[in-house]
Amino acid sequence: MNERILGLKPYPMVELARRKKALQDQGVEVFDFGTGDPKEPTPSLVREALCAAVPIVSQYPSVQGELRLRQAFCAWFRRRFGVDLDPETQALPSRGSKEAIFHLPLVLVDPSRDRNTVVYPQPGYPVMEIGSLYAGAQTHPVLLNASNDYLMRPEMVPEEVLARAAIVWLNYPHNPTGRDLPEELFRAWVEARERHGFVLCSDECYTEIYFGEKPRSLLEFGMEACLAFHSLSKRSGMTGYRSGMVCGDPELLAFYRRFRAGMGQAMPVFEQEASRAAWGDEVHVEERREIFGQKREVMLKGLRERGFEVLQTSSTFYLWVRCPRGVSDREMAARLLDLGIIVSPGSFFGPGNEEWFRFALVPSVEDCARALERIPPQEQWKKE
Ligand SMILES: Cc1ncc(COP(=O)(O)O)c(C=O)c1O
Repeated sequence: MNERILGLKPYPMVELARRKKALQDQGVEVFDFGTGDPKEPTPSLVREALCAAVPIVSQYPSVQGELRLRQAFCAWFRRRFGVDLDPETQALPSRGSKEAIFHLPLVLVDPSRDRNTVVYPQPGYPVMEIGSLYAGAQTHPVLLNASNDYLMRPEMVPEEVLARAAIVWLNYPHNPTGRDLPEELFRAWVEARERHGFVLCSDECYTEIYFGEKPRSLLEFGMEACLAFHSLSKRSGMTGYRSGMVCGDPELLAFYRRFRAGMGQAMPVFEQEASRAAWGDEVHVEERREIFGQKREVMLKGLRERGFEVLQTSSTFYLWVRCPRGVSDREMAARLLDLGIIVSPGSFFGPGNEEWFRFALVPSVEDCARALERIPPQEQWKKE
């Protein structure tokens, strides 16, 4: 067996699903704010496009995907970020962004070389670390917290680490906090990349879930050795479809395509058609933002009225909330669980986050309000 697998902690969301099932088996009504997997219906135009495209004879799809899917994505990218991408060479479909994020170190890191390190935010999406460990890469988490405003800056990483970095991951809008990266820090990272020669990757799966200024894409600021990872999961309610797109530097993508061909990861053509419909429509995205915005208002108001400190952000459907003084994140999550409310403790997203926990705004607006009724004011949580 691979020793690296034995050394890994279980994926945190698996643990949440286990606890939820145990409660439901006891007949408890559970409000699940744990995993970021919203329940709003997938738009009908997506479902219809999928059904209409199911063929009588179904053959292997190509790794590169149909040109018309890549064209639809690149047209969206142009409309949304004002950046022209060549659909022939600058966009490659993935089965959601998770697998692509996981695999990337296998493609770009040779553990025997000096340049063998992956740099990523912590707290952050656990897959950046997990994929790096499977690939045998060295890992370097960048510790984000309230005092640095959860903003990842090049000067937070020692020069010698940047010099041996193969990949630097950005993730803005940021899971779990919802923080956005200002333009000047995107530029600072592109400059750092030019100085040190790593590949700069940006996980952009939440760019469409915003309630203030529109989040930016890395590719507005740099293209050489830059990759952006997009997804229809959150934008279009398609977590179950597994549809994403990796875009950016054409040379890197040509190299990456060879890897994907070897692995045999390709998107079925009927899913490509559903994805094409989704990238081509903005109405359903606005409707989703409207619903998430309502949930945010209800939860923000309710939590603040109860005295909780919620990090002030304007993107993603996550709320990052400080634990009452003296109560750890795990204890907070366990006590909320006793009330039938599932949240993610901050430490699920890496050590150093034990004072925080995350709400994913998954339950309906009504259920958000009902769940709040079960949450006592903050001062009642404090330890004696
Ligand atoms: C920061 C971040 N990146 C990537 C993903 C993966 O999304 P998907 O594989 O559904 O595209 C998630 C999912 O929750 C996420 O939170």
